[in-house]
Amino acid sequence: EESGSLSGRRVLITAGPTREPLDPVRYLTNHSTGKMGYAIASAAAAMGAETKLVSGPVELGAPSGVTRIDVETAQEMFEAVMSDLNFDIIIMTAAVADYRPKAVASQKIKKVEGDLALELTRNPDILYEVGKVKNKQILIGFAAETEKVLEHAEAKLRKKNLDMIVANDVTVKGAGFGSDTNVVTFITADGEQTAYDQMGKADVAKAILKKAVSLLP
Ligand code: C5P
Repeated sequence: EESGSLSGRRVLITAGPTREPLDPVRYLTNHSTGKMGYAIASAAAAMGAETKLVSGPVELGAPSGVTRIDVETAQEMFEAVMSDLNFDIIIMTAAVADYRPKAVASQKIKKVEGDLALELTRNPDILYEVGKVKNKQILIGFAAETEKVLEHAEAKLRKKNLDMIVANDVTVKGAGFGSDTNVVTFITADGEQTAYDQMGKADVAKAILKKAVSLLP
């Protein structure tokens, strides 16, 4: 019944981790597998949307009908997203590294006696930057939290000028990184909260897109 509800619409999704190089053989990253973002991309295409997926390095194949752009670093993801913001719905699930090594060594860093200090510098907050320049796009972010989940999620919704945030408590069983299920609460800009029981990521994806359709201008 919902198969055509996104036809004629453009949907942009970010997914996966980013990879921040230290030297030619090492990088900093996180445990994101991309499953949530890929499930959303797959569902958006099935609902008829022209779907673009900007993805960090993951083990997943591109869902059918989805245009996938591969990136590694947060800076590359930022540029790929900013190059085209002409979308009806933008959903950012990527676990973007907040920091990157300040300098990338051109040769492999050698062991020395004693400790090694790494200097890190801030990466762009892609979602925040899109929130600053968006006009009609429905902008949706994720908040993976370990405490005061709804409070932190609502603060992010406001700070990043979002239409909706999907809060998930990553300490709960069946939620978060690598899992095939998630336990989420939607918070919309008008303050409405909807809490869901544990669901498969495909069903979470459908629920997010259904809500996004209802928020379209
Ligand atoms: O502030 P925090 O990183 O927890 O916010 C999470 C949300 O912001 C997610 O939707 C994530 O994809 C997005 N984000 C981003 N760029 C960053 C950091 C987070 O787009 N540098």
